[in-house]
Amino acid sequence: MKGFDLKGRDLISIKDFSKKEIERVFAVAEEMEPIAAGKEVSKLLDGKILATLFFEPSTRTQFSFQVAMKRLGGSFIGISDPKISSLAKGEDFNDTIRIIDSYVDGIVIRDKTAGSAQAASEIAQKPVINAGDGTNEHPTQALLDLYTIKKEKGQIEGIKIALLGDIKYARTYHSLIPALAMFGAQMVFVSPEELEPPESILTQLKMDFNVEVRQYRNIMDVIKEVDIIRVCRIQKERFPSEKEYNKVKKSYIVNRKLLKDGKKDVIVMHGLPRIDELDRDLDDTPHAAYFRQAYNGIPVRMALLSLIFGKNRE
Ligand code: CP
Repeated sequence: MKGFDLKGRDLISIKDFSKKEIERVFAVAEEMEPIAAGKEVSKLLDGKILATLFFEPSTRTQFSFQVAMKRLGGSFIGISDPKISSLAKGEDFNDTIRIIDSYVDGIVIRDKTAGSAQAASEIAQKPVINAGDGTNEHPTQALLDLYTIKKEKGQIEGIKIALLGDIKYARTYHSLIPALAMFGAQMVFVSPEELEPPESILTQLKMDFNVEVRQYRNIMDVIKEVDIIRVCRIQKERFPSEKEYNKVKKSYIVNRKLLKDGKKDVIVMHGLPRIDELDRDLDDTPHAAYFRQAYNGIPVRMALLSLIFGKNRE
């Protein structure tokens, strides 16, 4: 049963939280903004320790969770390179999680294997937050994406958003798609044939939300109608071979020229990092929401941590 109290809860899939619970995270994130910006000091999570276990590379997710803890007066321990933990001596995943769980109050985990965050949550007594498990999900990225849409556009319901790129492998999209459906956004998918969404996503949209999403090959087909273009890089590391990757690499790019045909106030979002799909010529235009989006990871993760630790300010 999904309750309203997030204390002690895991976040493995975006579907673990109801719409009301996500709205609660956003309300707390708004309250956190002055603390996130360093204008107010907080000791809300004084004494709490978070483990940030990153068995895959990360800049934004890892550091924003760590900053979120520090901004709230808490602290963290972390693995950002499995070679310097006892995993390198042959200790298995289960024992690693069990030991770390006994040291800390909560665990954030990123791993290359789909299902590993779920596996960690079954071992750990403390709350586990999925920071990306293979091609499966990245639910906190979906939270900060929705928060960004709300901040930039004032609402999520009815907003027209094109999800462009690697919809097959991008875990950010696999969490964002059901979240957008939950909030009544109008999605269109734009991707090369090889990177179309998995059938399971389309089925889930139909079964859970009675939503059928139009699919296109070229962003030009929808550029005039959308309020947001959400871009992602092609996830080279997920392809079965270099040959398969080479078939689709550089197959799309968002730049200033493209946006000339779009709505005046269209914004571009991207989870980052970018490779070559998002031209730097956009960076100093008002369309570029992606750096503000990455920043929003701080208040959103502060809110999430405070709620999961049962320490919100009310
Ligand atoms: N958006 C995102 O997950 O970025 P990192 O891989 O840098 O954490």
